[in-house]
Amino acid sequence: MKQGTTIYLYELAWILPSVAIPVGMLVALLVTAFGAHIHMPGMVGRVNPNKVDSSPPFDRPGLVQLAPGRYEVNMVAQTWSFNPNEIHVPAGSDVTFVATSRDVVHGFFIPRTATNIMLIPGQIARITAHFDHPGTYPFFCHEYCGLLHHMMAGQIVVEPEQTSASAGGQ
Ligand code: CUA
Repeated sequence: MKQGTTIYLYELAWILPSVAIPVGMLVALLVTAFGAHIHMPGMVGRVNPNKVDSSPPFDRPGLVQLAPGRYEVNMVAQTWSFNPNEIHVPAGSDVTFVATSRDVVHGFFIPRTATNIMLIPGQIARITAHFDHPGTYPFFCHEYCGLLHHMMAGQIVVEPEQTSASAGGQ
């Protein structure tokens, strides 16, 4: 009888964690996805890859200021360049990249940030990066896209924060 109880407790010691661990992981997943809004940068829209140049917002590639310290970049990737390939923002900015490809699959990777997405023809990707420290942040295509893939790059220049009197220019 006593031996039977010991075996039961031994089994229980495995059964409980094997239930608790997946449940804990599921709860962590739900909290990060719906509470902290951490998710894979996925498709947020579609665009006809043959009409990228005439489809908003990609008909006007470039940096748009939404509010002080908040920017959006409408970016088009193509073999073998990004448009725009250089942007300037003040330190402390949140920069949302709205990007797509007009030909083949490209990548968009900014080292030292959590920004790392695929740019797929016909799909619009959206990801926000925060830049606290002034400096030059290069970005790269990291999906092999042909002969000059290694040349496909650009940079984000984060400028020292301006005083509020002079901030706000384009
Ligand atoms: Cu674009 Cu590699």
